[in-house]
Amino acid sequence: MCGIVGYTGKALALSPVLEGLRRLEYRGYDSAGIALVVKKGEPLWIEKRAGKLSNLEDSLADTHPDAHSGIGHTRWATHGGPTDTNAHPHLDNEGKLALIHNGIIENYVELRAILEKRGHVFKSETDTESVVHLLSDARKEHKGDLAAAMRDVCGQLRGSFTLLAIHSDEPGRIVGARRNSPLVVGVGDGENFLASDVSAFISHTKHALELGQDEVVDITDSKITVTDLSGKVLKPREYEISWDASAAERGGFPHFMLKEIYEQPKSIADTLIGRTAGLDTEITAGINLEGISKVVIIACGTAYHAGLVGKYAIEKWASVPVDVELASEYRYREPSVDKSTLVIPISQSGETMDTLMAMRYARTHGARVFAVCNTNGSTIPRESDAVLYTHAGPEIAVASTKAFTAQLIAMYLIALHLGSVRGVIDKKFVSEIGIELAQLPAKVEQILETVEPLRELTRKFKDSGSMLFLGRNVGYPTALEGALKLKELAYMHAEGFAGGELKHGPIALIDQGTAVIAVMPTSTSPLYEKMASNVQEVKARGAVVIAIGDVDLESAAHNIRIPSSHDFLQPVLAVVPLQVIAYEMAVARGNDVDQPRNLAKSVTVE
Ligand code: M6R
Repeated sequence: MCGIVGYTGKALALSPVLEGLRRLEYRGYDSAGIALVVKKGEPLWIEKRAGKLSNLEDSLADTHPDAHSGIGHTRWATHGGPTDTNAHPHLDNEGKLALIHNGIIENYVELRAILEKRGHVFKSETDTESVVHLLSDARKEHKGDLAAAMRDVCGQLRGSFTLLAIHSDEPGRIVGARRNSPLVVGVGDGENFLASDVSAFISHTKHALELGQDEVVDITDSKITVTDLSGKVLKPREYEISWDASAAERGGFPHFMLKEIYEQPKSIADTLIGRTAGLDTEITAGINLEGISKVVIIACGTAYHAGLVGKYAIEKWASVPVDVELASEYRYREPSVDKSTLVIPISQSGETMDTLMAMRYARTHGARVFAVCNTNGSTIPRESDAVLYTHAGPEIAVASTKAFTAQLIAMYLIALHLGSVRGVIDKKFVSEIGIELAQLPAKVEQILETVEPLRELTRKFKDSGSMLFLGRNVGYPTALEGALKLKELAYMHAEGFAGGELKHGPIALIDQGTAVIAVMPTSTSPLYEKMASNVQEVKARGAVVIAIGDVDLESAAHNIRIPSSHDFLQPVLAVVPLQVIAYEMAVARGNDVDQPRNLAKSVTVE
């Protein structure tokens, strides 16, 4: 979703603002813009362009405005198409106040009507423009105090927002606010930053401040003040960012996605470090895991698929019923939750609006919340009783890969921990699975070393209209994940099915030449033969089957071998070829791999 950057300091602001926007490109966007304070009291310098950031950069060639503060924005369109006019920043009618926004202002229609009656002239179709006019009036009422005006305006807004504003009467000052949408402060030496996430300023400073809900931040190059909406001064939590700038760069790979696929041996190993014998008290201190009668896993997209795999492991190893819920459905259903419910939100970004809202619902109804998250300091872990961080590092490509396998690891660790706390499994079992888990990084490495023929094979299916994915047990969510990856990246029709469901309808889709990817259970599983029969059924109707498994399946047209593992751990291995298929298909079809059309990395609106 939208990326937000603010800079104030000794450097010429255009450069750090543009660099920040570049680093936030991964969030997904369709236009970009920048506003700078060049001369006190004069209209602001502003440029904005529809399309990629490179369009904006081209229009700026050889431009070096003498400005030391400014704001920049990459917009993912919600209200009004992705045009130059709708791109942010938006200006007040004097052209001296600029505002950028991530989120949705729900009461913008009524605000716009009031503001138009007051004489404000609107130029765009956005919800955001109402806020800049409102802020302009509020600033006059507050005698030119932009922070006081921002507090006042936030009180009048409904919806979710991160807002940043600058005014040319006050060069060097940037005021921001947040509600249900991320905003972090980067603390530099003689310079300070505001951004949607730390990757925007990570090459300048690793020292950050966390902002809470309904907080307003007021920065200059030497001062940072955080208040609540009543103006009370607050002390924000400070933290050091452990990622380094190089972790967010492509490192020689043609795309971030491929780099991230290849990082999985490391991200899996990092997520496992010190945890295979059980979760330490530093992780579980905030939560009482005794007396739980039900587990509810809440997530979206890929994280939801990790949750589905988690259900198999938790129910078997901890002997407790588990529901896995799409956050967007759960939050509006008024489900029954109480203090004996353990809610596990899973989120790479920690900012997904649907997951956050679903989790808040559960929490206000008494549930205990144990989050699984990849982003330190983000909202979901902050609002949880305890958090198990996945250590996948920054995931830049919109399509999730290494975060998914790290989430699977987190699910296994939680299942083992819950099983131990509940006395269902003993230390010996935990250590046996621990040994299997510890072998996964090397097994993933092995798959990645032999992936070339799969890339070649994938290209043969480049012009297929559709691909179907089959799986059973934990192979079923793996199939769903394979289909989601292909849809996202190749823009190809793809669906995942449970092998046993085929005969209940989906088999009608099979025609001569239909490509079917079968995620085979491990060869020692009692389900192996059942799945082999499903493959025979589709083959008999003309399907071309690609089987992924630890042994070759004779009836398959193509076999992709993965190392054998414990049944439940197999998704960590089986998903890797599926990621490679989706990646290669996107490349073959000429698609934007890291920023697929219409998608955003962090979905901070519902
Ligand atoms: O940041 P989150 O894990 O909460 O994001 C959830 C989904 O939006 C995300 O997994 C999405 O489905 C990915 N694009 C999948 O590749």
